[in-house]
Amino acid sequence: MPKKTLKILDIGCGDIPYLKYYTSDLKKNKIFLIGIDPDIKIISLAQIKAIRYGVTKNIVLKKMTAENLKFKHFFFDYIFLFNTYAHLNNVDKSFKEVFRVLRDGGAIFLRDSYDFPDSVRFIRNMHKNNHTATHVIEKLKENYFSIRYINENRECDKVYWRIVAMKNTFGYKINKKIEKDFKNRKI
Ligand SMILES: C[S@@+](CC[C@H](N)C(=O)[O-])C[C@H]1O[C@@H](n2cnc3c(N)ncnc32)[C@H](O)[C@@H]1O
Repeated sequence: MPKKTLKILDIGCGDIPYLKYYTSDLKKNKIFLIGIDPDIKIISLAQIKAIRYGVTKNIVLKKMTAENLKFKHFFFDYIFLFNTYAHLNNVDKSFKEVFRVLRDGGAIFLRDSYDFPDSVRFIRNMHKNNHTATHVIEKLKENYFSIRYINENRECDKVYWRIVAMKNTFGYKINKKIEKDFKNRKI
């Protein structure tokens, strides 16, 4: 893997919905993506998608949970937690693991939603952590992350939040495309 290749861990990757936006970067070795999910069926779907987009060389998919990451310290540049925070069994344990495997100056990108109406209470009931952005930020700070970006919006029937947090500020150089795509809700 070239030295400059960004190493990204997608926790609770599902079928990697944003994959189509990153096929070119994956093919050019700009990104190496590891997706983990405890659901083996969803891992198979992600695998099929990676084959369809022709990016299997730069994607590894594994059955794993956020609470027990089987990676070396300081390995990743970025970690994605997209719509997965609400499902974590243990937020503190997961954030400790994220902190451990992130390099200094690395960043975690999180997004999720809460405050569902009664009409979709089945979603609310599936969530273990229906937390506001303020609560998540507190949790991140308790686990030594610095907050770089916060956005929280009520939209129709629920509240969405987006947060970028960093592990230490030194050596920090965020990838502009990823940051822009995140803020513009492309990923
Ligand atoms: C709502 S889906 C989000 C999928 C994808 N990230 C997205 O944005 O569409 C939540 C995912 O988190 C996974 N998940 C549940 N508990 C988890 C845990 N403890 N650690 C990591 N992933 C978990 C689920 O299997 C599921 O695929």
